[in-house]
Amino acid sequence: MREYLIVGNWKMNPETLPKAVTLAKGVVTQAAKLKKTSVVYCPPTPFLSSVLKHKRKEVFIGAQDVFFERSGAFTGSVAPGMLKSVGATYVIVGHSERRGLGETNEMVGKKAAAALSAGIRPVVCVGERERDPEGWHLSGVRDQLEAVFEVIPKQKAAQVIVAYEPVWAIGKDAVRQATPAESTEMVIFIRKVLADLLGASIASKIMMLYGGSVDEKNAPSFITDGSVKGLLVGRTSLDKGAFGKLLAAVDSL
Ligand code: PGA
Repeated sequence: MREYLIVGNWKMNPETLPKAVTLAKGVVTQAAKLKKTSVVYCPPTPFLSSVLKHKRKEVFIGAQDVFFERSGAFTGSVAPGMLKSVGATYVIVGHSERRGLGETNEMVGKKAAAALSAGIRPVVCVGERERDPEGWHLSGVRDQLEAVFEVIPKQKAAQVIVAYEPVWAIGKDAVRQATPAESTEMVIFIRKVLADLLGASIASKIMMLYGGSVDEKNAPSFITDGSVKGLLVGRTSLDKGAFGKLLAAVDSL
């Protein structure tokens, strides 16, 4: 793993396999120029095996969700071992769009634990739906973290990547962009919670990302002033030109 990590979350895009392959080839070409930045891209599950042919050193492929059982009568679900067997090495868990469909903190914890036991690194998304001037939203983020780090073995905790994603700053309906200062404030809080749960030494090893309306213009500022080592990028990861610029801008920091 290099100094910075950019995770592209394609969400339910693009519509067809040929388009997914074109997008994947673009990412791989752009990533070839990078020296300090690793890239993970996360296509929809049906495209995983095909886009996996398009990878290179420091470019990894991830899934956008996973189930916590190994096999059995779970119609529509995908097991961590299945992702592993097609070559995915990362998985996003607890994205707010999945939490919005009814996923609980407990399920997110089980998914992160299941991914780790299959040898897949979970990118755990946490973040508040709205900010409370009194700071009450912090306790919700604490609950999200506890549900994950209380169920995974301590010796594997450093493999987890935590993405702070304020829900109000995500997607085309975002209220506004978050500022790097707001990222820093939450990252400090998250590190404190992780230190309480795991001890300072393990907590300091956990990589943190920021996500929510990241584009080629604001990306560097989150790394320089937002206290994170990487970004979780939605819409901009679907735009070859803008994503290429984003990768280059981060890599030149
Ligand atoms: P966005 O999505 O970059 O389109 O806001 C980020 C995310 O949901 O991970």
